[in-house]
Amino acid sequence: MKKILITGGAGFIGSHVVRRFVTNYPTYQLFNLDALTYAGNLENIADIEHLPNYTFVKGDITDADFITAFFQKEQFEGVIHLAAESHVDRSITDPLAFVKTNVIGTMNLLNAAREIWKNDFAGKRFYHISTDEVYGSLGSTDLFTETTPYDPNSPYSASKASSDHFVRAYGETYGLPYVITNCSNNYGPNHFPEKLIPLFIHNIITNKPLPVYGDGKYTRDWLYVLDHAIAIDLVFHQGGNHETYNIGGFNEWQNIDLVKLLCQKMDKKLGRMPGTSSQLITYVKDRPGHDLRYAIDASKINTELGWKPSVTFEEGLEQTIDWYLNNEVWLQHVTSGDYQKYYEKQYS
Ligand code: NAD
Ligand code: TYD
Repeated sequence: MKKILITGGAGFIGSHVVRRFVTNYPTYQLFNLDALTYAGNLENIADIEHLPNYTFVKGDITDADFITAFFQKEQFEGVIHLAAESHVDRSITDPLAFVKTNVIGTMNLLNAAREIWKNDFAGKRFYHISTDEVYGSLGSTDLFTETTPYDPNSPYSASKASSDHFVRAYGETYGLPYVITNCSNNYGPNHFPEKLIPLFIHNIITNKPLPVYGDGKYTRDWLYVLDHAIAIDLVFHQGGNHETYNIGGFNEWQNIDLVKLLCQKMDKKLGRMPGTSSQLITYVKDRPGHDLRYAIDASKINTELGWKPSVTFEEGLEQTIDWYLNNEVWLQHVTSGDYQKYYEKQYS
């Protein structure tokens, strides 16, 4: 029986990864460690919490003593590390929170893993889930490959780049077995409505302005979250030691085109006249240090592990919109309290 720790499993991507592992690998013992910050929500994984191979532990990866004791007690063989502060706009307001969780939190996990594995690394694996944003911003034609130099521009991406470097350094210096993936923008069910797609779905439902930063010509590559979970499963089991894989959707959109498509689809779903939701589009002040374009060359994971996205953007967006329309209670729960304060501060 394999004992595996997944961090951040109550968040957006983590909840899909936890569900996949708990249901696909009944002989593994899966631990989900999450501090339940504003972005963590046990409702995301309520359907699997009764399963015998699943344990939830509320805990903070920045607490070194707790993490050390937790690893000593449970003797994990594998770590899939997703816990992070993940929103660029929040990193601009409070960069230190990102250093604490993303850098120091990752260091605590690395130290604890190294300590319990006692330099006998056979059968062990530390998997760091990272982002394409570490590579910085692209011009109009090139793509991020695994050898693109790191050039982060936001406090968020700088903190993720830093934690990637520490993971690699532990591999080089101590021989710690690791794998890193750098993925493009995810979308799908359970996405906290501060990121573009879920925020705009929520605002269309509630008839609020759709705040497009700058001229809206910024480009992102979008991947359905379940396809990311499939890739994580593959890389965890079959990825090469000390390797990095880029994961992407082969699906680039300028923000404004994506927002217009979303408006069209939402008009249909909500039975509104065509053109109703697009009237909510409002151009607002740009994000400082806004990266122009992200785009991924995912050919390495395709060639070596046979992964490619299975869900088209059309299907994924439909499923995402339907999920939000069918889960109004979830939306209400996560958009009350602290969220209201954040929203007023960010968009006033
Ligand atoms: P999220 O913000 O939805 O979830 C993060 C989770 O981590 C939450 O459940 C939160 O409670 C938990 N957490 C935060 N600080 C913690 C701490 N100190 N201790 C323990 N738990 C803590 O994030 P997400 O979008 O699901 O992203 C997950 C990971 O994937 C992150 O590492 C992120 O950098 C990476 N990533 C995200 C995307 C994306 O598009 N969302 C793309 C590529 C990579
Ligand atoms: P976001 O979902 O925050 O992801 P990331 O910054 O990690 O790519 O933003 C996606 C794109 O949408 C990015 O170019 C910023 C833009 N954006 C807006 O125009 N308005 C908004 O309110 C938000 C949250 C994002």
